[in-house]
Amino acid sequence: MENKKEIVLSGIRPTGFLHLGNYYGALRNWARMQYEYDCYFFIADWHSLTTHADTKDLKTNTRRMVSELVAGGLDPEKCVIYLQSDIPEIAELYLYLNMLAYRGELEKTSTFKDKVRQQPENVNAGLITYPVLQAADILIHRALKVPVGKDQEQHIEMTRNFAERFNHRYGEVFPLPVAFNYGGELVKILNLDGSGKMSKSENQMNTIYLNDDDVLITRKIMKAKTDQGPVAVNSKKPDYIQGLFTLLSLVSKKDTVDKFEEDFNQCRIRYGDMKKQLAEDLVSFIRPLRENAQRLQQNPAHIDGILSDGAGKARKSARATLVKVREAIGF
Ligand code: ADP
Ligand code: TRP
Repeated sequence: MENKKEIVLSGIRPTGFLHLGNYYGALRNWARMQYEYDCYFFIADWHSLTTHADTKDLKTNTRRMVSELVAGGLDPEKCVIYLQSDIPEIAELYLYLNMLAYRGELEKTSTFKDKVRQQPENVNAGLITYPVLQAADILIHRALKVPVGKDQEQHIEMTRNFAERFNHRYGEVFPLPVAFNYGGELVKILNLDGSGKMSKSENQMNTIYLNDDDVLITRKIMKAKTDQGPVAVNSKKPDYIQGLFTLLSLVSKKDTVDKFEEDFNQCRIRYGDMKKQLAEDLVSFIRPLRENAQRLQQNPAHIDGILSDGAGKARKSARATLVKVREAIGF
């Protein structure tokens, strides 16, 4: 029987510990999508070389990340989990797509401009063609839905452009993928001082990692930036307060959220109480994930087995696409 499920693909770089932004922007959706779609999830180890040239910890980081993904809900029986570097077909497709990507658009990409600011001494060609490699990741499985956080929206739009150009020049091979989140809107989880998105390599006190222990989670939340509270009823929340409310809405009961919302709107909020509650609820949410991930990491052979299984399945799908691609180009 023909498989009619839509194809889903997403990836994550093995550049640090998983944090709440990765969980709510990506993993939570992935774990749900695996039951409804044909899902491919991978560790973007080639992409990590654009910013993390030192590969000493790559293997450890990769295994840890797979453990965290599985602890966070991915079931290797329900989705394909693999390493980008195990699929050489992606590199070939990247080469073809590079001829369809223009310098101007690559230089204009927000993530590229950010990286130029962050690492001016290492503006390598991999960095500027980062979105092309990402497009190859997605198009190699002819994926339709790409569950990612808000920061990746532009890359998915670029993927659509490259796919459209390919189809136009060589014939219809690729569907046009869209960024996806179950809530409809893509999410951006702010860091604890509201100055930007939570991210793996940021100031560690500003990010909550799924590997943080109970004491550390509590310390980070209690130190999170607040102020004296609003002075007028129904005020707009500053970003750093909104960020705490967002976290509360993700891990706490509705009654709890409603109570603090009401307190805020009536100018009687006590941020100390709110943070205490938030810390408690975050600890209950994170503890089982952390413990599960730590347990899984004790069995590297099992993790390697998941990855080699996944590589087999992912290569099969990748090869099928590449046959069409080569045929369309005329090789
Ligand atoms: P990081 O930026 O922390 O290094 P990645 O770039 O590897 O993480 O991102 C992996 C996934 O997690 C992507 O889908 C990305 O959009 C999502 N993501 C990362 N940070 C956040 C955040 N703060 N809010 C929402 N989604 C996020
Ligand atoms: N660029 C993504 C990030 O930093 C990671 C990634 C690489 C990705 N290839 C992908 C995400 C393909 C979705 C689809 O988060």
